[in-house]
Amino acid sequence: MNEHTLSRRLERVAAQVPAGARLADIGSDHGYLPVALVRRGVLTAAVAGEVAETPFRAAERSVRENGLERLIKVRLASGLAAIEPNDGITAISLCGMGGETIRDILDAGKARLTGLERLILQPNGGEQPLRQWLMDNGYRIFHEELLHENRFYYEIIVAERSTPVAYTPEQLYFGPLNLQARSPVFLAKWQRLLRLKQRTLAGFERALRGGPEDRLRALELQVGWISALLK
Ligand SMILES: C[S@@+](CC[C@H](N)C(=O)[O-])C[C@H]1O[C@@H](n2cnc3c(N)ncnc32)[C@H](O)[C@@H]1O
Repeated sequence: MNEHTLSRRLERVAAQVPAGARLADIGSDHGYLPVALVRRGVLTAAVAGEVAETPFRAAERSVRENGLERLIKVRLASGLAAIEPNDGITAISLCGMGGETIRDILDAGKARLTGLERLILQPNGGEQPLRQWLMDNGYRIFHEELLHENRFYYEIIVAERSTPVAYTPEQLYFGPLNLQARSPVFLAKWQRLLRLKQRTLAGFERALRGGPEDRLRALELQVGWISALLK
């Protein structure tokens, strides 16, 4: 993967970035996403934010080697602190991090959100707490996607601020649009997870008998939901 050829995962993320957007890619690593999208003429400007020095330098290098310093600002900052008011950001991508990390970044940076930005999120796990944050903060999920690449399942969640939405616990767990679409890759992911959770549950039940009740109950509830889903 590089700024010319994105991974299939980042290509699917890229497809959710509107033409003419001003994108803040937070946790940009090498900056491949903003560089590729500016090169393709999709973005009018971008910010690549990185909290760690080594990926920050790598993003600076990608931008410099492509001669895009005027259009892409690379900033060493944590989360949404990379965004400045006159950047005029219209889309924010947070990809390749845990869902809880993405949630914490959004929550800590709330003051920097105008509410007009499209959020393009690609969590690695922790989708449920992330969807919960979106619902609690007035975002509607209008696109969800799941893909299988290099033995991993990746979720993409795209949301925009809207009138309040109320998702059920199952919708927060599986994704409201994933649940509707029931794509083959979605069902395959949950078949795999059901097997893993059933195995954990059996181990728990054997070993515990009076152990951490909450985890056991949560696991039983999830196994129930997944079994109902796959019926
Ligand atoms: C696994 S990489 C993903 C890179 C790229 N977004 C992708 O999806 O391929 C995660 C990146 O997020 C950065 N990161 C983690 N927490 C961050 C934060 N609070 N603010 C900015 N960047 C962060 C890490 O330094 C790392 O470079």
